[in-house]
Amino acid sequence: MNILILGSGGREHAFAWKIAQSPLCDTLFMAPGNAGTASVATNLSISYNDFDSIANAVIENSIELVIVGPEEPLVNGVVDYFGGREDLAKVRIIGPDKAGAQLEGSKDFSKQFMQKYGIPTAASRTFTANELAIGLEYLENHSLPIVLKADGLAAGKGVIIAEKHSEAIQAFKEMLVDGKFGKAGNKVVVEQFLKGIELSVFVLSDGEHYKILPEAKDYKRIGESDTGLNTGGMGAVSPVTFADANFIRKVEEKVVKPTLHGLQSEGIKYVGFIFIGLMNIKGEPYVIEYNVRMGDPETEVVIPRIQSDFAMLMASTAKGTLHDFELQISPQVAVTTVVVSGGYPEDYEKGKVISGTDKVEDVHVFHAGTTFNGNAEVVTNGGRVMALTGLANSLENAVHKSQRAAQVVQYEGKYFRHDIGVDLIRYND
Ligand code: AMP
Ligand code: GLY
Repeated sequence: MNILILGSGGREHAFAWKIAQSPLCDTLFMAPGNAGTASVATNLSISYNDFDSIANAVIENSIELVIVGPEEPLVNGVVDYFGGREDLAKVRIIGPDKAGAQLEGSKDFSKQFMQKYGIPTAASRTFTANELAIGLEYLENHSLPIVLKADGLAAGKGVIIAEKHSEAIQAFKEMLVDGKFGKAGNKVVVEQFLKGIELSVFVLSDGEHYKILPEAKDYKRIGESDTGLNTGGMGAVSPVTFADANFIRKVEEKVVKPTLHGLQSEGIKYVGFIFIGLMNIKGEPYVIEYNVRMGDPETEVVIPRIQSDFAMLMASTAKGTLHDFELQISPQVAVTTVVVSGGYPEDYEKGKVISGTDKVEDVHVFHAGTTFNGNAEVVTNGGRVMALTGLANSLENAVHKSQRAAQVVQYEGKYFRHDIGVDLIRYND
């Protein structure tokens, strides 16, 4: 089978690396991919939002299975587009349709969904620009901190945690009146602050059955000890020490099952990944958010722990036979450290030559923001440059392997966090 993966990040390189190992995969294509995916797949220079060009490439290359990495094409309706083309009727696509993608594409939709199906989440209220006055009054009386969320996709910047009422009021007006996030901020969800430990649980659904994939913890802030600006993710760990079998069972009963039941009740046939961002509050799960894709860099620790054939897992998802699939997970610990461009998540330079990737030992190197320059050298091409995943029998050793590789990889302006996974080592003690 010929397979196409849409996307260009570390998540997609991890998918590609795993799928390329499968005897089920003949030729693997990426749209657009990165310098790392070029070593395991054929990169097509097509944007993942250009549905016509994707369709042409699918036909031209006899692609039978498409895996959608990022949320944007899903929210934009790539699955509905494929469904609407007769010449693509036989092509299977992993990802929810536009209706299902609202779980991530609209925070208001996902909050209403959780309320309707009894899924534990923070109490919230949604406001539009017409409700400015009552919204402001509501904020004045809200306990601190106050969480404000732009309804639509805002490139990971749409969540504000205000420590003061004045801050919340300003952010609220910026979204609803000044259009700070464009259309994404036409509605604002105001929500109670949840205090606990955060983790992510990943579910794969074939529309009827599901599998729970390994859970992960992400490190979102740029600075060590979780300080400074939010990023796409500076590292990840799987498994998560504080998510024992009992907690995961609670997540399955209180969150996963009602979510899939809710989707079916809404008439949504959800084929794809569901990323459930959770807060563990004294052993009880609360949903912070849904994403309709895998996490990045969480995928870079989840995929190395999956021992089963991933192309077969995807084919089984597409066919609706996940209940027959035996998912084998490694008990080993995976830790990934992301090396980023100097200045990220604010402005940064691109085009820095990367060296040292041939010298790293005993890690998986997943490229993210990389490309080739005119001299065929691998250069930086994004904020997050690479994710370096160590796999070991202990958390300490996995941290060590990942950190050592992050030291060895070199380019001008390189930065990484030295504390990925370290808090969990302490947690173990
Ligand atoms: P998001 O952009 O939806 O991933 O949210 C960014 C981050 O904001 C989350 O990963 C949480 O750390 C935090 N967050 C979102 N909602 C809440 C909440 N209700 N209580 C506490 N923290 C939250
Ligand atoms: N690492 C967080 C995300 O993928 O949204």
